[in-house]
Amino acid sequence: MRQRRQSLLDRLITEADAVLRTVTSRGHAAGRPSPAEGHGDAELSERERRHVAGLMRVNHTGEVCAQALYQGQALTARLTTVREEMQQAADEEVDHLVWCEERLRELDSRTSVLNPLWYGLSFGLGAVAGAIGDEVSLGFVAATEERVCNHLRDHLKQLPEEDRKSRLILQQMLEDEQRHGENALSAGGADFPGPVKDVMTAVSKLMTGSSYRV
Ligand SMILES: [Fe+2]
Ligand SMILES: [Fe+2]
Repeated sequence: MRQRRQSLLDRLITEADAVLRTVTSRGHAAGRPSPAEGHGDAELSERERRHVAGLMRVNHTGEVCAQALYQGQALTARLTTVREEMQQAADEEVDHLVWCEERLRELDSRTSVLNPLWYGLSFGLGAVAGAIGDEVSLGFVAATEERVCNHLRDHLKQLPEEDRKSRLILQQMLEDEQRHGENALSAGGADFPGPVKDVMTAVSKLMTGSSYRV
């Protein structure tokens, strides 16, 4: 009994630590250097700089959601056969989070003030999906990654041609997210029906629209 209570407390402390690190944008270290490293900054007009910062803020919030989703899932999902793969994906999401944040700083901008809200929502959804079962949990990851890939492709089209730094970051993220989605499906994730994906698209639009501005 004592052992169980301690391990629950340990888990809660670990969760609280992860939340604070993510929403306060401190304490995460990337495992891979940013793809933008060593590339010179482009000369952007003020309008372009603001637009790129808005896009990178959206991508950063997406990565906050990814952290929360994996944390929520880790709390409830069994994932007996794919835990290691999921951990690798979660580690790569930390890279994305750090790269986006670095780029926002370089653009003289900031992360979204709404991040704690999106963290909470994603954490809850990840935990609920994990509690239902691995098929739903992995399906949720796959459907989420599909949405993320769509907006990354859209952002790549919107970036000014000369902003090589942001472009390289988003290209690497797109490659990683595609793989995360494929792995989740091949690990037994359900391919969610169209109407469920439509709801997820609508929620992700709310996120992208708000994080772009604030
Ligand atoms: Fe990511
Ligand atoms: Fe991902």
